[in-house]
Amino acid sequence: MNEWVTAMQARKWMKKNESFLPIWHAYVGSELKLFDEFKTARTIETISEKTGYPYDLLASWVKVGVAVKHLKKRPNQRYRTSKKRCGSLMGEDQSAGVKALLKEMMELHIPTMLKYPSIMKSQERAEFDHERHGGIVAETSALLEHFAIKKIKKMIRDKKVQSVVDLGCGHGGYLRKLAAEFPDVEMIGVDINQKVVDRARALSEDFPNIHFQVGDINSWKPSDGEKVDVVLLHNIFHYIHPEDRHQLLSHLHQYVQPNGLISVITPIDETEQGEAFSSAFNSFFIAHSNLFALPDKKELTDISKQCRYDLFDLDPIVKEGSWYTFWLSPSSPVREMRHTQTAGSSEQTLSSESMVKVN
Ligand SMILES: C[S@@+](CC[C@H](N)C(=O)[O-])C[C@H]1O[C@@H](n2cnc3c(N)ncnc32)[C@H](O)[C@@H]1O
Repeated sequence: MNEWVTAMQARKWMKKNESFLPIWHAYVGSELKLFDEFKTARTIETISEKTGYPYDLLASWVKVGVAVKHLKKRPNQRYRTSKKRCGSLMGEDQSAGVKALLKEMMELHIPTMLKYPSIMKSQERAEFDHERHGGIVAETSALLEHFAIKKIKKMIRDKKVQSVVDLGCGHGGYLRKLAAEFPDVEMIGVDINQKVVDRARALSEDFPNIHFQVGDINSWKPSDGEKVDVVLLHNIFHYIHPEDRHQLLSHLHQYVQPNGLISVITPIDETEQGEAFSSAFNSFFIAHSNLFALPDKKELTDISKQCRYDLFDLDPIVKEGSWYTFWLSPSSPVREMRHTQTAGSSEQTLSSESMVKVN
């Protein structure tokens, strides 16, 4: 090929890669708390001496920071963090918010994506280390609470709900947000990861109506045998093999009230918006032997019908990420009978009814 064409093609790809720089820079600064070090204008020498980080590496990081506008150059060889751009990467809590998102992207997603060639060639998938990464995943997942909680609160208020169980509760943020408004509703969070539950308990000390249990949601049941008004099933489908998802939903019939509700939040594969993110999530999940493909809308409607639930209010909460919320309510036997009598085939009627609600 013409040398000029090759060089121009390489230049184009290099230019495309520029968008990676701010992410790399932000990750390094966040991990090493460098944005805090440069909170007020400082020289590189001062921070290098204070932290012990090699001068040349720090200087190079600072240079990139100025180029991507994370840092501002000040008189006398000093540099200061742009609070407008990097304020979310400053402060004590190293695991919260954008910092957690960067950490997950750089330490979990990108390394796995880089292993794709070897995974494909060897056909040996990676193993997701729940123990090691459970905390960070719970933290980034909690970023969705803000977008979803209003809808759940409204339902709890309207239905006069008495009990809520959060399955795969992570750090229990949904329960705390609900408990702050509904102090008389009994709440239980269940998670398989002991460390995650310990953190959830510590964060929820001020809420006497929240209790946590370590357990596997595939078999967990309330110990008192009581039925539950609302179950939360948030960001959990990709932890369960597609062939086992219907077992979980069927199992929930044992303790969800006949007029109760299941709140589901999940990224969905193959949606009109957010295709780039959902396909990237999917690539990450399925590269692991112990994480699984995202459900698509058809799987969700099929599984709901198969497991005798009505699916309704399917709404996107973060369009570009393909995250959706919806409710499942146990199909009432009367309605099922009505479907059977009027349509001859209850399956057809339920299916078309679900589709109307979904679309
Ligand atoms: C992505 S996090 C979601 C946390 C929370 N539900 C949220 O939406 O913010 C998934 C959580 O499910 C937990 N989990 C995965 N499989 C589980 C199982 N079989 N039983 C109980 N918890 C499980 C993980 O330990 C993790 O904390």
